[in-house]
Amino acid sequence: MLIVGNWKAYVQTTDHAKKLYASVKRLASSTALRDTQIVLAMPAPYLGIFGTGGKTSAALSRVLLAAQDLSLSTGGAATGEVTAVLLRNLGVTHAIIGHSERRAMGETDQMVSEKVSHAFANKIMPIVCVGERERDPDAKYLKLLRAQIDAVFSPLSQKERAQVILAYEPIWAIGKTAADALSPEDLTEMVLYIRKILGSYLPGRGAQKVKLLYGGSVEPGNIRTLAEGTGIDGFLPGHASTDEKTFVSMIKELQ
Ligand code: PGA
Repeated sequence: MLIVGNWKAYVQTTDHAKKLYASVKRLASSTALRDTQIVLAMPAPYLGIFGTGGKTSAALSRVLLAAQDLSLSTGGAATGEVTAVLLRNLGVTHAIIGHSERRAMGETDQMVSEKVSHAFANKIMPIVCVGERERDPDAKYLKLLRAQIDAVFSPLSQKERAQVILAYEPIWAIGKTAADALSPEDLTEMVLYIRKILGSYLPGRGAQKVKLLYGGSVEPGNIRTLAEGTGIDGFLPGHASTDEKTFVSMIKELQ
């Protein structure tokens, strides 16, 4: 299982960040967690504190670092931007790209696709978020989802397609409670639907191997039922990753 904790802008002091990071590192070094990879997606300034500068040791690689976004710029005169090169030099291994909260600020499918290519060019694994704002009775949201996935996958090489981590995050389920999250039955259906789309890009077993995450009100109370038998490979929890006890107990639910 791959668990990507998305701190968003919830963690606003270095003290809070250090406490969270330390407790996750402790948890990750317990041998019982051998089959779980934890990645922490933190606000950019913290990546400078916890980044390894490109060096990885066995202990450090148990908790990998992700950016919550990366720039379309490759550097130079681009005030306020955080480039993929800079992130790579800090030792960041993953980046969330196309989160719905960034798409709401104007990020388009085209921009998402360009950011994915910047990520690959710098050996950063893209965690691409897709998901509908709402579900309509005519199931038009399935078309929107396909368009979001097509925009990312069509320009990529076969090798890159196999490496994309795709996070299905229905916007209507984000930032609420476990009771408002997607049901395990619906998640199973969406996993099948998404893998079917991926099948047009990756023949044979290729589509089955793409890492697929679910995000949207994942909490200790629902993570296990969402994991069991749905075909999902991991989760992208937001608010539940910003409290030490909640995050730790959520991971333990999966063991
Ligand atoms: P949430 O956020 O767990 O707070 O719903 C998930 C996300 O937006 O990535």
